[in-house]
Amino acid sequence: MERLVCLAAAAARNAWAPYSGFAVGAALRAGGEEFLGCNVENASYGLTVCAERVAAWRAVAAGQRDFQALAVYTPGEEPGMPCGACLQVLAEFAPDSLPIRAACAGGKVVDTTLGALLTAPFRLRQGGESNGS
Ligand code: THU
Repeated sequence: MERLVCLAAAAARNAWAPYSGFAVGAALRAGGEEFLGCNVENASYGLTVCAERVAAWRAVAAGQRDFQALAVYTPGEEPGMPCGACLQVLAEFAPDSLPIRAACAGGKVVDTTLGALLTAPFRLRQGGESNGS
């Protein structure tokens, strides 16, 4: 996890965050490999993508869907947690037990899990039942 935090902090340096000024980095271990992400903002604000989703999509695009651990690095004195949209994306490829470490520039760290942050992810098929499609 410490290594993932270092990688996330490095990834934050590539953030494109001219509108919020809030540079975030993420490092995801998936299938034994590490994938980095940073937030990428857009002048059309709603098109902004969080660091965590960039890392998740890089992993999936590289063929690694077995998410094992995530570190997120945010500026400031309090660690920032992954947003709800990112948690839902993570839940597609990770178990509830996915370890998540939120770290911040001020040095504080919070260790948690995906299941603790998102207790009831949406799933198209619950318990293997068909939805008819
Ligand atoms: N952001 C992330 O990258 N990850 C999060 O979990 C929350 C927010 C980004 C999106 C936006 O560029 C900036 O932080 C401020 O919301």
